[in-house]
Amino acid sequence: MSQTRSAILLVGGMGTRMQPLTFSTPKPMLPLLGRPITEHQIIKAREAGITEIVLATSYLADVFTPYFGNGEKFGITISYAVEKNALGTGGAIRNAAKLLKGDGPVVIFNGDVLSKHSLDEQIAFHEQNDADVTLYLTQVKDARAFGVVEMVGERIETFNEKMESPPTNIINAGCYIFNRSVIDEIPEETVVSVERETFPALLARGAKVLGFVDDEYWLDIGNPGALLAATRDLIEATGYPFMQGKGSEIDPTATITNGSFIGAGAKIGPGATIDQCVIGEGAIVGANVDLQRTFVAAGCDIGSNMSAKDEFFGFSSK
Ligand code: GDD
Ligand code: MG
Repeated sequence: MSQTRSAILLVGGMGTRMQPLTFSTPKPMLPLLGRPITEHQIIKAREAGITEIVLATSYLADVFTPYFGNGEKFGITISYAVEKNALGTGGAIRNAAKLLKGDGPVVIFNGDVLSKHSLDEQIAFHEQNDADVTLYLTQVKDARAFGVVEMVGERIETFNEKMESPPTNIINAGCYIFNRSVIDEIPEETVVSVERETFPALLARGAKVLGFVDDEYWLDIGNPGALLAATRDLIEATGYPFMQGKGSEIDPTATITNGSFIGAGAKIGPGATIDQCVIGEGAIVGANVDLQRTFVAAGCDIGSNMSAKDEFFGFSSK
């Protein structure tokens, strides 16, 4: 990839398993430490030398543009490929690639993955081995909810999306490098799943599909519990018990623990205890409230003297 480094970010899914958080916010735009998950990925892409990125949007597509604009603020060129009707992951890649200026290999990210793997090394691996496609892979205890591969050396031999009895625990970690010619083979304006159709078809015809296995931190932020875990993991890495956004006010008698995040401008009252929670921007948590693993939406006032565990406040479908 000596020329322009290009990327596509798949952010068009419905985020069904994230409800109610995703009724009005697409999953990739959910805040993680006060910034959209997508922003964390854009920064990772930029740090790996990627200069242009296309966001492949569909569900609640309008939410992305006002925040990211043309990417100038983030030091990268951003454009938007909007699918009126979702095209699936493969169809989305084909559609988004039309907007790329570069014609070299393309880095493709699932929009809900947080990882510490080296993108630079994955790109170098792809180039050195002259691969058609390189998948970032990781190992998990239970592979049933993921795309599972079997390998011989560095070559992927089989790919199966979400199976009951996975033959290995090595999974698709949701970051690929595709040569442009492989993208151009995906039919246009057609619903295609890269996991269920493109990968199996490439393997069937003997394409060079390689696995870049990495055991660094990896998390699929697929449900609310995973978003809490991601928040806690990032905060714990800083050594602080919690983090707070600008202008937030926490009463000195409140106790905030376990990687909770208090959004900008939020207010936490006296005697409140907040354990592994995400409190939205400008939200108000009154006196003696006791919250565990709970989300409070931006601007929501939850009152005083109450307790809640594994709950959501202020996220409605309207
Ligand atoms: N533009 C667009 N259009 N994006 C889509 C569409 C679509 O039709 N469908 C899904 N996406 C996006 C989602 O927004 C998400 O960022 C990404 O594609 C993957 O979809 P998920 O719904 O999160 O898939 P998953 O988590 O069940 O499985 C995927 O990720 C696993 C790793 O986290 C698969 O790629 C698995 O093979 C993989 O193991
Ligand atoms: Mg996912």
